Amino acid sequence: MAKRVILALETSCDETAAAIVRADIGASQVKGVEILSNVVASQAALHAKFGGVFPEFAAREHVKVIMPTIEAALVEAFPLQAPITNHQSLITKVDAIAVTYGPGLVGSLLIGTNVANALGYATQKPLIPVNHLDGHFFSTFVPDAPPFPLVALIVSGGHTELFVATKPFERRLLGRTRDDAVGEAFDKVANLLGLPYPGGPAIGALAHKGNPKAYAFPRAPQAGYDFSYSGLKTAVLRQTQTMPKLSQQDRADLAASFQAAAIQQLLAKLEQAVAQYTPKSLIVGGGVAANALLQERVRERFSSLEVRFPIAQLQTDNAAMIGIAALWQWLRQSPHNRYDVEAVATIVAPNKRSFQRK
Ligand code: KG4
Ligand code: ZN
Repeated sequence: MAKRVILALETSCDETAAAIVRADIGASQVKGVEILSNVVASQAALHAKFGGVFPEFAAREHVKVIMPTIEAALVEAFPLQAPITNHQSLITKVDAIAVTYGPGLVGSLLIGTNVANALGYATQKPLIPVNHLDGHFFSTFVPDAPPFPLVALIVSGGHTELFVATKPFERRLLGRTRDDAVGEAFDKVANLLGLPYPGGPAIGALAHKGNPKAYAFPRAPQAGYDFSYSGLKTAVLRQTQTMPKLSQQDRADLAASFQAAAIQQLLAKLEQAVAQYTPKSLIVGGGVAANALLQERVRERFSSLEVRFPIAQLQTDNAAMIGIAALWQWLRQSPHNRYDVEAVATIVAPNKRSFQRK
């Protein structure tokens, strides 16, 4: 076993993130993952006035904050000790640099990949390009891997994907959203209800005060493994159009009824996959994994399986999850010393259906 330390960068959307992670890389496992630092500079406030991410502003903000974010991650992970007296030399303590290369907003990804290429070249540290979705997948591999086979659900602002995996890199995509991602539906419904961006946490909090049975929004999922959220979003829109003025209780009831329907669809697909593939564990990654009702329902329904949600700091976008995915990638392939990582907005999955952020 060799202990490896990774500096990871993530700039695929509106978080500028840098982290230091450490773990033992053995012949077939990564063990004892430790997160030495995980710094996230969120741009949520910047984009809130547009009700969503404004790509050009996101890229400009990444440029402004990426170097201080990296420095903060290094300083937090390695408190300054003699003989190291300046921050730049702290980077000598890492074995490799990982970076998200896609999918995501290309202008945002370019900042992370260019900084990683330059930093790698200047320090001669090897690079590990990481798929953002792999980051969400491996975010539950802390401190060690969950038991295989497993069923994995990735639910975020850009993705709603269901996989079955027999090994860490042997995964099959069972289904994905045909239209909106589930996090995107939370964001759009929040917007309709006059709640701030990002909508998921706001809807979750308001739903506590509402009646989930107040409105009969569509709950029945499509046949097969694909998801669809546009019908549910439209049903909420139609309902609000019949209500000239929304009281605070109306908002709470709408939020609770929407949330219950959105989560019911996820649960139905998970049940189908668990019945078909009889996994040992079930993992859920991505920003929507922060949803309290989802966590409660999944744990309650699948109590016979090992159920894993990421720890709070690894739920929404962060760089530590990119570092963890990089450690697992290192098992398969040594990091390379070419400083030419390219940003890729859309990544095609093995079954030819693309992973894409809308
Ligand atoms: O993983 P993430 O940070 O970014 C993407 O890769 O897209 O996910 C962000 C998404 C947003 O749509 C946000 O509304 C949603 O995760 N989200 C939640 C909650 N917290 C964040 N959705 C439902 N309930 C939450 N508590
Ligand atoms: Zn994400």
